[in-house]
Amino acid sequence: MFASYKLIIYSRNYYLLKGYFCINFFKTMNRNIISGFSKLNKHAKLELVGSRFENSEQVIEDLKSYWHDDPAKQKLFDEFSENTISNFYFPYGIAPNFLINGKSYLVPMVIEESSVVAAASNGAKFWSEKGGFRSEVIATSKVGQVHFIWKGEVEKLQALFPLLKRNLIEGAKHHTESMEKRGGGILDIELVDMTDEIENYYQLMATFETVDAMGANFINSCLEDFADILKMHFRENEHYDGEEKNCRVIMAILSNYTPECLVKTEIECSVECLRKTGEIDDPEDFVWKFEKAVQIAKVDTHRAATHNKGIFNGIDAVALATGNDFRAIEAGGHAYAARDGKYRSLSDVDISGGKFKYSLTVPLSMGTVGGLTALHPLARFSLDLLGSPTAPELMMIAASVGLANNFGAIKSLVTKGIQMGHMKMHLLNILNSFDLSEREKKLAIAHFANYKVSHTSVKQFVESLRKEAPIEKY
Ligand code: MEV
Repeated sequence: MFASYKLIIYSRNYYLLKGYFCINFFKTMNRNIISGFSKLNKHAKLELVGSRFENSEQVIEDLKSYWHDDPAKQKLFDEFSENTISNFYFPYGIAPNFLINGKSYLVPMVIEESSVVAAASNGAKFWSEKGGFRSEVIATSKVGQVHFIWKGEVEKLQALFPLLKRNLIEGAKHHTESMEKRGGGILDIELVDMTDEIENYYQLMATFETVDAMGANFINSCLEDFADILKMHFRENEHYDGEEKNCRVIMAILSNYTPECLVKTEIECSVECLRKTGEIDDPEDFVWKFEKAVQIAKVDTHRAATHNKGIFNGIDAVALATGNDFRAIEAGGHAYAARDGKYRSLSDVDISGGKFKYSLTVPLSMGTVGGLTALHPLARFSLDLLGSPTAPELMMIAASVGLANNFGAIKSLVTKGIQMGHMKMHLLNILNSFDLSEREKKLAIAHFANYKVSHTSVKQFVESLRKEAPIEKY
C-alpha cells in the first residue's frame, strides 16, 4: 500500500547543481511527517535529503562540495543555524570610493543581483568627485513593548505607574548594568493606553540605547523581566482589588519599527555639474525628469515599493556583509516609509537655486558588536575593512550605499532605462547557463560589448558560434 502510494506520487523535477543539468525523479509528496530530523547527525540528514533523489549519491557529493575545507570553520557555519547540511554561497563584493563625511571607504557588499555592486561603485565614484556623501545620525534609540490586557480603573494604574516604572528599571538591573557601563541602557518606559483600539489593552513602551550593539537580545531580555514584574505589580499591590489583580501579558518583544534610530545622508552638486556625466546630455531636462520620478514614488505605492527596493539593494548588501539583520532593517524601513499612513519613497529631492540635492532618511538599527558581527569571519573582516566603525558610523555607510544605488537606478530609469546596464551585468549569468568554454565566454563578452543582451540574443550567438566551429573547452 505504502509502495504504490509512493509510486503514484513521484514527481519529476529538473535539478541543477554544480553547473550542469541532471534529471532527477524527485521522490517527494510522501506526506509522512518527518520526526526527529534535528536529532539526526549531519550525515544522516544529508542521507535523508539525498534519498529524495534518484542520483542520491551524486546529490550528497555535490552538497558536500560546498563544505568548508577547514572542519573548525565548517562547524562554526553549521552552528549559526539548525538542520544545516551545506553552505549557500553568495558573492562578496567591494564598492570602492565611498567618500562619507570626508572619509573614504571600501564598502563590502553581499548580494546576488548582478549590477547592484556596479551601480553602488559608479555612484560612489561619481559623488566622490563632487564632495561625497554628507551623513548624520539623527537618533539612535530603539523600542520594545510589553502588550497586556488588564481590566481596572485606568486612573489607579496611572497613579501607580511611577512606582511600577521604578520597579521595572530596578528589576532589569542585572541586564542593564553592563550596557550602562558602555553608555546605554533603558531610556524610558511609558504606559500606553490602547483601550480605544482593543478592549482593556495596554502597552509598556520602553526605549533603549544599545550603543554599538543591535541589541535585540538585550532588549528582549529586559522586556521579559518587565512582563514578570508587571504581573507581580498587579498581583501584590494592595491598591488593586478583585479582577484588577489579574494582568494577562500577551507578549513582550522589541519593535523593528525604529523611527528614533534614524540616519540621514545626502549628496549635492550644481545642476550644471551633471552635464559632464555619461548619459546626461541635458542636465536641466535630467533633473526635471529625476524630480518627477521621485514625486511619483512619493504618491504612488506601486512605484514607491520598487523605488525603495532599489535603496535596500544597497542597504541589505551592507547589512549582510557586516552580519546585520537585514529583515529587521527592511521591516523598519518599510514601516517608516508608511509613517503618515501612505507608503512613500524614502528619498527626497530638492532642486532649487541651480542645485541638485538628493537625500535619504531611513531608520537603520545596526550593530558593530555582538551577534554575528563577532562570529562570522567575513562579517568581522567587513568591519575591519570599514575601519572598525561604531554603529552610528555603519548606519551612515549603509544609508549612503542605499542612496548611491537609488540615485543610480533613477538616473538610468529616466535616461537610457535599466535593462541595458542590467543585462550587461547579467551577461555572465546567462553565459554560465550555457556551459561554455572560457574562450567562448570571452568571444561572447567581446561581441555583447556592442549588442543588446537578452537570453535569446545570447542563445543565438552561442548557436552561431558553435555552427561555425565547434570549440573545445579549456
Ligand atoms: C532593481 O533591483 C531595482 C530597481 O527596480 C529600482 C528602481 O526601480 O528604482 C532598478
